[in-house]
Amino acid sequence: MNSTQYEGQRALVTGAGGGIGSAISRVCAERGASLILTGRNREKLESVRLSLPGPQGHHVVPADLTRDDELTLLGQTAAELSGTEPLGILVLNAGAALSASIEDTTVQQWDHLFALNVRAPFQLVKALLPALRANPGGGRIFVIGSVVSTEAYLDQGAYAASKHALHGFTRVLARELHREGAAVQVHSILPGGVNTEMVRSVRPDIDTEQLIDPTEIAGIVGALLDMAGNAAVDEVRVRRRTKDPGA
Ligand SMILES: NC(=O)c1ccc[n+]([C@@H]2O[C@H](COP(=O)([O-])OP(=O)(O)OC[C@H]3O[C@@H](n4cnc5c(N)ncnc54)[C@H](OP(=O)(O)O)[C@@H]3O)[C@@H](O)[C@H]2O)c1
Repeated sequence: MNSTQYEGQRALVTGAGGGIGSAISRVCAERGASLILTGRNREKLESVRLSLPGPQGHHVVPADLTRDDELTLLGQTAAELSGTEPLGILVLNAGAALSASIEDTTVQQWDHLFALNVRAPFQLVKALLPALRANPGGGRIFVIGSVVSTEAYLDQGAYAASKHALHGFTRVLARELHREGAAVQVHSILPGGVNTEMVRSVRPDIDTEQLIDPTEIAGIVGALLDMAGNAAVDEVRVRRRTKDPGA
């Protein structure tokens, strides 16, 4: 790791007050980036900001990503901040899950998951691609999917459908950006159970001792940020070590 690698560059992390988002924010800050931390809960974001190296260089921009007005404002604020320090890293991490059979899932629950897990990343990419392209050092987009992005987990129909959609979006985005040249790279991270608020509420059956620590997911993001050669990693699947790799 080089602690000045991203000095003078911005990193925007959605869901930065949460388990995985706060750990990824740290990894970006440790590499010198100035963070734009977003989520709904200002207090959680402020406490993450204060815990990072160089807290005064980071910005908290609260936004509910299911609301068009707040998403637009976030996009504008991030684009403006990127005028002073270019945007080098965009982490599309905010998300919500649901534990319910398809029959018991309401249309409102379905729409909420799609708004947050699929529509918001699409809108943020549209708003911030110009800023990433304008960065002479190139850019990185990390999309936090899930093992359910490609699998059928019982009683997670709306969540699995939204993460499948996000996965398709991510793969096409990677190809479209590659067509322009290799300046902006896209990485899809597909974790299994991680020890955060989300999994504790949706999968209380999993023994927390066996869950992946959020810092392990952040460590993968850090390793990808540190790769500066000719190799590109498109997708990283991460399972709990106790889970059968063939299941
Ligand atoms: N935990 C797992 O086992 C696991 C496994 C695979 C993939 N993932 C994915 O990892 C990502 C992060 O989840 P996590 O495990 O770190 O859970 P978490 O701790 O519950 O974090 C979720 C984050 O999403 C934000 N968020 C929720 N609703 C939002 C909204 N309407 N507008 C803006 N932000 C919103 C939350 O911000 P506020 O608190 O400020 O509202 C929070 O920071 C998600 O995309 C999830 O699907 C998690």
